[in-house]
Amino acid sequence: MTSLAAARLPESEQPLPVVRSVDDLRTQVSAWHRDGKTVALVPTMGALHDGHLALVRRARELADRVVSSVFVNPTQFAPHEDFDRYPRDEAGDSGKLASAGCHLLYAPTVRAMYPEGFATTISVGGPAEGLCGTFRPQMFGGVALVVTKLFLQAQPDVAVFGEKDYQQLMVIRRFARDLDIPVRVEGLPTVREADGLAMSSRNAYLSADERARAPELNRALLDAASALAGGAEAATVLEAVRARITAAGFGSIDYVELRDADTLAPVTRVERPARLLAAAWMGKARLIDNVPVLPA
Ligand code: PAJ
Repeated sequence: MTSLAAARLPESEQPLPVVRSVDDLRTQVSAWHRDGKTVALVPTMGALHDGHLALVRRARELADRVVSSVFVNPTQFAPHEDFDRYPRDEAGDSGKLASAGCHLLYAPTVRAMYPEGFATTISVGGPAEGLCGTFRPQMFGGVALVVTKLFLQAQPDVAVFGEKDYQQLMVIRRFARDLDIPVRVEGLPTVREADGLAMSSRNAYLSADERARAPELNRALLDAASALAGGAEAATVLEAVRARITAAGFGSIDYVELRDADTLAPVTRVERPARLLAAAWMGKARLIDNVPVLPA
């Protein structure tokens, strides 16, 4: 019955096929590769918004077939973090992915990803050091582990990630290169709400009042980036960002830092492309954002 009803739907409204095991994923991807099709992977943790869907649309431009994974990865959360209350909505995600042009949803269980006896870790230095690596020491090891597994499971030609998580993107580029994983890692600029707030699944944690204050983080970073590009002294500019977002109602500030855009090494002067990155708490939500800083 379901397949007859589905057969009558236009292609854009067909339910999205879902696989939950590595074997089923590989069967589909190998069939596409045998047919000469290229395959893109878009890894996510679900609770999808337009930022995620922009990655899917970009993936469609880059490859013939698009696989999206939805997996809230326990190894990248510390015990006190929001793994349990992280928003989950597979049915909603599946509909959004289908309408963005995704061809296959890969939604493994935690047990399938990390079977009994799982004992391997990955540790990344370089771009994983400092910034979020200091405040969430568990995160990049967990991201490297799950993304390496996803790359080996799906064997995509290209994978698309957002600059919203700029440090994560640099870490993924680094370990993919270090481990000789044959995948092209593509970055996409941050998709924002009309008022500049970076779209994030965690924005759901904001109250109406906090939501109204949150865009000040992006405004402060953009103004700071212009000042830095104009030659202003970094320490003064970074301090002004901290003061401004504190005045806007941000509580604890994890960091506001200027880094090299490629290596993420700390910089004090903008002589080549740099990146201004920040993480700060608004109520129960830890918000991150970053903007490019180009030399004058
Ligand atoms: P998640 O936070 O769901 O993000 C999935 C992808 O969407 C990441 O590449 C992220 O950078 C991108 N993204 C999120 N918000 C965005 C925005 N506003 N604009 C552009 N891209 C955006 O990042 C993760 O999941 C996980 O760490 C993962 C890589 C899936 C590993 O578990």
